[in-house]
Amino acid sequence: MEKTLRYALVGCGSFGNVHLGTMLKIPGTQVVALCDLHPESCALLKERYGLENAACYTDYRELLAREEVDVVAVVTSDKAHKEVTTAALKAGCHVICEKPMSLFTEECVEMVQAAHDAGKLLMVGQVCRCAPGFIKARELVEDGAIGELYYVESEYAHDYTKITGVDNWRVDPDREPIIGGACHAIDLLRWIAGNPVETTAYSNHKVLTDWPVDDTTIAIFKFPNQVIGKVFTSIGCKRNYTMRTVLYGTRGTIIVNNTDPVLDLYQLQENGSSALTQLPLEINNHNVQAEHEILRDAVLNGTPLVTTGEEGARTVTVCRAVVQSAKTGVPVQIVYPV
Ligand SMILES: NC(=O)c1ccc[n+]([C@@H]2O[C@H](COP(=O)([O-])OP(=O)(O)OC[C@H]3O[C@@H](n4cnc5c(N)ncnc54)[C@H](O)[C@@H]3O)[C@@H](O)[C@H]2O)c1
Repeated sequence: MEKTLRYALVGCGSFGNVHLGTMLKIPGTQVVALCDLHPESCALLKERYGLENAACYTDYRELLAREEVDVVAVVTSDKAHKEVTTAALKAGCHVICEKPMSLFTEECVEMVQAAHDAGKLLMVGQVCRCAPGFIKARELVEDGAIGELYYVESEYAHDYTKITGVDNWRVDPDREPIIGGACHAIDLLRWIAGNPVETTAYSNHKVLTDWPVDDTTIAIFKFPNQVIGKVFTSIGCKRNYTMRTVLYGTRGTIIVNNTDPVLDLYQLQENGSSALTQLPLEINNHNVQAEHEILRDAVLNGTPLVTTGEEGARTVTVCRAVVQSAKTGVPVQIVYPV
């Protein structure tokens, strides 16, 4: 018999729906409460998933005061992440908070501190670390399949024209695309190549001209061990969503995308040429179920989290350094506060 954990979902929009649908697939999950500023959004999910006994709230503080909850999933618009997460931790709950952890490094530090003070787990939804293709790519690098890493690149190209969010929250001068979207690509490269120490970036604004932020950014990085790298992001691009990632090593190259069913592995042969092996992949680019399984295991059995609050904070720190460089036109040294 699975031990039951009691869950609350705060933020019942489109990704809240994904969280609820996936967490309910895990035995031992009991959803006791839903919360959204728009009551009809809670009602919709409550009905869709047959949660007759779940209470609905429009104020997360009321939910935390009244309900007995083990885990809160914070899937609100980005700017509410910090206040809901810190309140839930203070109320004695473990938290899974969506990415980006916050738009501001200082808030991330507060969230990490709140988790330490409460003695509760804080996980951040940097879901690329649960995508089968990216897990495979990292394993190959760790196993030496491409020799020594020397250059890494990733991208986040996703047309946001029609996904402005409930009440248009994505159209926000503080939500630079490199933070809101490309935090995925930056987190992925950090996971594989380590914490970059310096960045230089450029951005422009030619597509979503009615949005308050530059829609395209290119950032280059110095990683540890003289590895160099690049992240490109565009939120106005006219193409399908992609996170194509290429990892170059002294003895081979990996090309992987979380939307492709194969990973391309090029490896140096004895005759000096490169041979291509195509490894089949399950496409599961938003593997939120794996995140909930990892968190459940950590809560019940003390297993380690991969995307801790500290990791989420480091990713936001890099994103902010990119924004600073793009705005000032000079390279920025990256200093990690946690
Ligand atoms: N991991 C991923 O790949 C991924 C994908 C999509 C979205 N996200 C993240 O998930 C979060 C939600 O995105 P979405 O696409 O579901 O947006 P959405 O606009 O569809 O839903 C957000 C919901 O949060 C609610 N909300 C805002 N502030 C609130 C508060 N204080 N209390 C209660 N509810 C509140 C809104 O009313 C809205 O219903 C964002 O942080 C986004 O960056 C992550």
